[in-house]
Amino acid sequence: MLSSDDAFDEQLPLSLQIKSSMHFTPIEVARQAAALLAPEPGMSVLDVGAGAGKFCLAAAFAIPTATFVGVELRGQLVRVATRLATQLQLHNVRFVHGDAFDLDWSQFDSFYLYNPFAEQLFENAFRLDRSLTLDPLNFDLSVTAVRVRLALARVGTRVVTYHGFGASPPLGYDLARVEQAGSDRVELWIKSREVSPEEAAAHDV
Ligand SMILES: C[S@@+](CC[C@H](N)C(=O)[O-])C[C@H]1O[C@@H](n2cnc3c(N)ncnc32)[C@H](O)[C@@H]1O
Repeated sequence: MLSSDDAFDEQLPLSLQIKSSMHFTPIEVARQAAALLAPEPGMSVLDVGAGAGKFCLAAAFAIPTATFVGVELRGQLVRVATRLATQLQLHNVRFVHGDAFDLDWSQFDSFYLYNPFAEQLFENAFRLDRSLTLDPLNFDLSVTAVRVRLALARVGTRVVTYHGFGASPPLGYDLARVEQAGSDRVELWIKSREVSPEEAAAHDV
């Protein structure tokens, strides 16, 4: 199931198969990102908006010494992801149904963001389904909420983006690596220092 994108897609309901390539991380990119997110044994990674679990499942399979948690607003996708984790007998991955911003981000070492809020911007066929109320204001609020949580995270926190998340990580993060994934970029950001409230206010972060 994790040998190729086609093999993964075959496990999805038909309605998701046709959208998979647009919304879910390619297997090869997931492996690449996982290595950047969890270079040491014992690290825990949050996938913000896990979809049908494709990133988390491929990452957990590639790096059995790390733990991957996927949080996802859509219950149907969480059920698919959980079923696939069971089929693959993966014990280092779990999926949570809910809003990423209701979780405590301080329990994670690293964060994966594959443009999770982009759907809020488009009222067209790009959408995964019609279950979410879309509003460009939600996009801005979500991007800001990510930046606030990353600003509060500890030094050493790793963030990998694929197609970004709508902004850069806040002050205190350095772009440590850029890898090309086909025509797209995988970026690794690492928090290198604490930023005082005064400095953050001066930079509007
Ligand atoms: C582009 S898909 C990425 C899926 C997965 N990370 C992957 O790469 O295979 C983004 C997902 O984020 C979810 N999402 C958007 N906002 C969210 C939020 N606030 N909390 C949890 N999930 C969210 C959407 O429902 C969608 O399934």
